[in-house]
Amino acid sequence: MIDNAIEEIKSRLDITEIISEYITLRQAGINFRALCPFHKEKTPSFFVSPERQLWKCFGCNEGGDIFAFVMKMEGIEFPEALRLLAKKAGVELETRDPRATSQKTKLLDICQETAAFYQSILYSQAGEKIKQYLKERKISEQSIKSFFLGYAPDSWNSLLQFLTKKGHKEKDLESAGLIIKKAQGGYYDRFRNRLMFTILDPHSVIVGFAGRSLDDQDSAKYINSPETRIYYKSRLLYAVDKAKSEIKKMNFAILVEGYMDVISSHQAGIKNVVASAGTSLTMDQIKLLKRYTANVVLAFDIDLAGQEATKRSIDLLLEEEVNVKIAVLSRGKDPDELIKKSPQEWKESIEKAKRIMDYYFDSTFSNLDIGKVEDKKKAAKILLPIIAKIGDKIEQSHWLQKLSGNIKVEEKILREVLEKQRQKIRPGFLKKKDAGEQKKVVIDRYFLIGEQLIGLILKSLCLSPKKDESLFEIVNNLPLEALKNEKLQELAKQLIFCYNNFYKKNFDFSYSEFKKEIGPASAGYSDLLLFNIEKDFPMLEKKVLEKEINQSTKNLKKNLFLKRLKEVENQLKNAENKKNKEEIENLTQELKNITQELFKLMR
Ligand code: UTP
Ligand code: MN
Repeated sequence: MIDNAIEEIKSRLDITEIISEYITLRQAGINFRALCPFHKEKTPSFFVSPERQLWKCFGCNEGGDIFAFVMKMEGIEFPEALRLLAKKAGVELETRDPRATSQKTKLLDICQETAAFYQSILYSQAGEKIKQYLKERKISEQSIKSFFLGYAPDSWNSLLQFLTKKGHKEKDLESAGLIIKKAQGGYYDRFRNRLMFTILDPHSVIVGFAGRSLDDQDSAKYINSPETRIYYKSRLLYAVDKAKSEIKKMNFAILVEGYMDVISSHQAGIKNVVASAGTSLTMDQIKLLKRYTANVVLAFDIDLAGQEATKRSIDLLLEEEVNVKIAVLSRGKDPDELIKKSPQEWKESIEKAKRIMDYYFDSTFSNLDIGKVEDKKKAAKILLPIIAKIGDKIEQSHWLQKLSGNIKVEEKILREVLEKQRQKIRPGFLKKKDAGEQKKVVIDRYFLIGEQLIGLILKSLCLSPKKDESLFEIVNNLPLEALKNEKLQELAKQLIFCYNNFYKKNFDFSYSEFKKEIGPASAGYSDLLLFNIEKDFPMLEKKVLEKEINQSTKNLKKNLFLKRLKEVENQLKNAENKKNKEEIENLTQELKNITQELFKLMR
């Protein structure tokens, strides 16, 4: 039965191992921690408990078991997650009734058979010229095999016939993006007389194809599979399955433009290389990369298109807080050409990759003659908007000085221009906020939850003034220590005191009585909190309120624990530096307790 299979899979797989295939986990007591892959954050609030075989993010509140993780991470439904994890666990799923085979499985099977078909053609008589072509391009036999290169024959229906004979339906072949419907009825092969590249997902499952024309007269040099139910172009990177472990090991990824660039580099032994396939770089592709690393070296073609792509990609990568460097190729028009000339120089180009600002400066000045006024203006026009976007004041000043020196224009004047531009730019890109500014945001949110919680409780009491067990529980379990705002803490204490008094005396709760008891200052504050709640939650129902109260309480506690966790971690670092054994032990124990508490909040 399916339930047995699920249990069997869970017992065979270790959740920490599976999750580390996607993100880097660090040990935190008996649990593991990481930056959450499902929301943006700077301090890790994503936890994995090997003991419970569960994961939970205290930042975005996502959580669950190994299946939930894979579904969310891969953007797939349960049956796919089951299949994927069963494969990893070596658990045989009961053979399905073919009629029940899901559409996606059908498409996956079709793609696999198609790759095999193209390969067999490559190795047949018809594939001789392609084999010759690959040889000329110095693609090794081993690369042909490991990258599943193939040949789509020069025919309108070879694949169509091959697959329909095997029992596949035309409709499914069309859904897999392999054949195209004719206006007058009937179908024909999408890929004809092309060198075929096979596109695999991160788990080495074949999902799509790209075909390179062999005829320079052809209008389209490359044709890619269309988007299908198994191939989401914007979410995949070419060769990510082969590159991912090396990317993690090296802690950086090299992003190139072309399929050939990827294969050549892998063949030359540099394997942390991927390319976007048939699209320009997308946010989802960056997110995919971020499973493995936060560092990217761009090595795009040296032509204009390549430079444009570089600029666009830099912006996107920075927005996702990826560290970017740019490799400048020493020769050749793209990495493939350079590698064919000298693998060593390819390696060096990557090692010497430039930081973004150096890249912008170098590429700007390499095309200009700064003796000319016009060119000085051009340089300022290109570089000032980029400098304006730098959030860090010291860093910004550094580049401003450099520009001033390069074009021999006073810094003061540049600064004036910069200020004007600054007003036009909305923050976002290169947004390293000042540390102070960021702290303030966090603290504000922290207060807000507390204020919201007290407001919610006040509102509930007004709505149900009669003696109420669950409200009594809530009031008496307020996490006072989490209310950092003194005024708020004071109000909360007064509330606990008054409510208990009412309760003991069997009185209904009376807001006006309560206000009299606590004095005008607290009363004004209390009014404000109540007002804010009525503004934010105009449709009030006791059930909803209780849910909100529970959530707010949990959030407050969670924040408190996370804050403590950070403090203890810092203390632990110090203790480790000082090699203070006893302190290390105590702190490690405390760390363990805190993460336990955090996990309790999960339920
Ligand atoms: P290039 O034109 O630079 O090709 O396109 P290439 O990779 O260097 O190929 P070779 O070396 O001439 O064989 C770079 C990438 O842009 C996409 C492909 O992913 C290609 O690898 N592309 C290019 C397309 O999707 N369609 C096209 O028509 C051209
Ligand atoms: Mn090329």
